[in-house]
Formats: sequence, structure tokens, C-alpha cells
Amino acid sequence: MTALLSTHGLVARYGDFQALYGVDVEVAAGEAVALIGANGAGKSTFLRAVMGLLRVEPDMVRFDGRPIGGTPADRVVREGIAIVPEGRRLFTGMSVEDNLRVAVDQAARMGRSGGWTMARLHQLFPILKEKARVPVQSLSGGQQQMVAIGRALLCQPRVLLCDEISLGLAPKVIREIYAALPEIRAQGAAVVVVEQDVGLARSATDRLYCMLEGRVTLAARSADVTREQIGAAYFGAGHAVA
Ligand SMILES: Nc1ncnc2c1ncn2[C@@H]1O[C@H](COP(=O)(O)OP(=O)(O)OP(=O)(O)O)[C@@H](O)[C@H]1O
Ligand SMILES: [Mg+2]
Repeated sequence: MTALLSTHGLVARYGDFQALYGVDVEVAAGEAVALIGANGAGKSTFLRAVMGLLRVEPDMVRFDGRPIGGTPADRVVREGIAIVPEGRRLFTGMSVEDNLRVAVDQAARMGRSGGWTMARLHQLFPILKEKARVPVQSLSGGQQQMVAIGRALLCQPRVLLCDEISLGLAPKVIREIYAALPEIRAQGAAVVVVEQDVGLARSATDRLYCMLEGRVTLAARSADVTREQIGAAYFGAGHAVA
């Protein structure tokens, strides 16, 4: 596999606390990869480290053949990686459209171009057109998540990182959001989803990695992996699947 994005012995710390212990992950162009693991396993830390939000060595993260570890986040976005962060981080007090315009302007400033336009996004999530003038904080959680995904897509990423986009949402809304992934991939982006719902993670991706206490404990094809393998990787050897 030729990796578009890869990490190599990725180590990350918060002060004295080490959160990642040599994480190796590969993502090919156009691929969908899931990152699963219990609370505190290091999934968000992994995404933050890739995005340049934590200090890591250059060679620990490679994108399109170049070392990007420790590159400031705005430059990582310019390179072609975008994140839908934990908790969405939308601009409250601004309308849906204005939230999205920020990303359009940012992409233009960075010289990033691609297939994602406001019109294209409205096709993907029609509710964003309907609610364009509405303050973003008055939307439902699922609708806000669509804005967050839209904002990341308007940066024209080659890799889209999603941190628990299903968290706290109703099953119907989760299905709606995950139904967008094939469309996003069809536009050429690879997708990395951090997902607590293992069944969802498996069905939506080509491959998955399980993390436990800052280490990768399983790397497998999503279609082939067994419940037993996931259980052992998720909780440590010797535990049964919940
Ligand atoms: N800002 C921080 N300062 C100190 N420690 C942190 C910080 N953020 C995370 N950690 C610690 O790093 C470890 C990994 O956390 P991380 O948020 O990456 O886990 P996660 O797999 O995303 O978990 P969750 O499923 O709860 O989101 C945890 O032990 C956590 O307590
Ligand atoms: Mg997390």
C-alpha cells in the first residue's frame, strides 16, 4: 500500500504525561479508516498530533511523501488535511452560512481548490441550505455536526479526520451523517473516523485500527476482523467482548 498519510513511531505528550507510545498508522488515498478504542486510549491525541496541534518530531507524521510532524495546524490544512474536531467548535453567534464562509475564505487564502462548493455541500446536506441564515447554536446536534463536516470539506481536504461525529446523536441522524462518507470519498478524499460504535466503524470503513493506552493493539481489514480480535485489542488480552 502506498500511504498518503502515515505515522511512524508517533509519540505525543501533554507535559510529563505520555499519551502516545510509538503509533504506526497508514492511510491510502481515498481510503476510509476507523480508529477505535476505549475512552482515553489516545484517539483524539492521535488526530491532534497529525494536525500539528501537539509537538511531535517531523518524521513521525508523513503526508504525500513529506515529513509534516509538528507543522503548525494552519499549514497542515494548507497541505490538505482537515479535521472535524471533538465538540465541533463552531462559531456561535454566527449563521450556518457565515460559519461555512469562514472555511471558503480560508481555503481561498491558502490557495486550495477542489470540488467542494457551497452548492455541492447543500446537495450533500440539504438542511444546511434551508438553515443557511439561522444562528448555528439553534441547530440540533446532528445539524451542527453537518456544519462542522461542511466546514472541513470546504478546506478541500485530501484526508478528512473526524473525531466522534456520531457522539450523542440519534441513530437516524447518525445514519444520515455516515451516509455522506461514500460521497465524500467519491470526491477523492480519504477519511479517518474516530468512532466508539465498533459496528458502525466496521461497516463504514475499509480498515480499522484499535488503540489501547496509547498503543495500536490491532490493525485489520474491517470486513475480516472478528469480534474476538476486537475484544482483545479493545480491552487487552483476556477480556470478552461487551
Ligand atoms: N489536554 C490534556 N492534558 C493532559 N492530558 C490529556 C489531555 N488530553 C488528553 N489527555 C490524556 O491523554 C490520554 C488520551 O486522551 P485522548 O483524549 O486522546 O483519548 P481518546 O481515545 O480520544 O478518548 P475519548 O474516547 O474519551 O475521547 C488520556 O489519558 C487523557 O486523560
Ligand atoms: Mg477523544
